[in-house]
Amino acid sequence: MTDIERSLILVKPDGYERGLTGEVLRRIEAKGYLLAALAVLSASREQLAAHYAEHEGKPFYEPLVEFMSSGPITAIVIEGQDCIKGFRSLAGATNPTEAAPGSIRGDLGRDWGAKVQKNIVHGSDSPESAAREIAIWFPAL
Ligand code: RTP
Ligand code: MG
Repeated sequence: MTDIERSLILVKPDGYERGLTGEVLRRIEAKGYLLAALAVLSASREQLAAHYAEHEGKPFYEPLVEFMSSGPITAIVIEGQDCIKGFRSLAGATNPTEAAPGSIRGDLGRDWGAKVQKNIVHGSDSPESAAREIAIWFPAL
């Protein structure tokens, strides 16, 4: 038996702007995961610094923070056995050009020639990251 897990998903500003929030939610629900929390919001600099702390100093860090501040995002907590790995699989590879067809990034994403990959969604990559990220976006949970 596997324990029920939670993962933190973000629909990034490119996903919001392109009207893909509903499509991401549809895929999450069609897969069978539950929605435990949902909020459309504008990310603060503090939230993004905490969320992307592991990437500080990398060449794409500043473009990433700027991109994530460029418009509304939707923060989502999903729930279900092995949903962290399961959502990473739904999302596909980081680079949307290489992401497999059938995945969110593979079906809906592409290279737009920006300094950072605009790849529609974020998903936690481990139970430790999920707990840390849920506390950033949903401190009341
Ligand atoms: P995420 O954290 O957003 O779920 O994506 P990930 O694990 O697949 O990728 P990660 O390595 O954590 O990078 C975080 C986000 O930074 C942007 N990025 N752009 N070379 C690039 O242009 C580049 N590298 C990373 C992407 O938006 C990536 O999702
Ligand atoms: Mg990541």
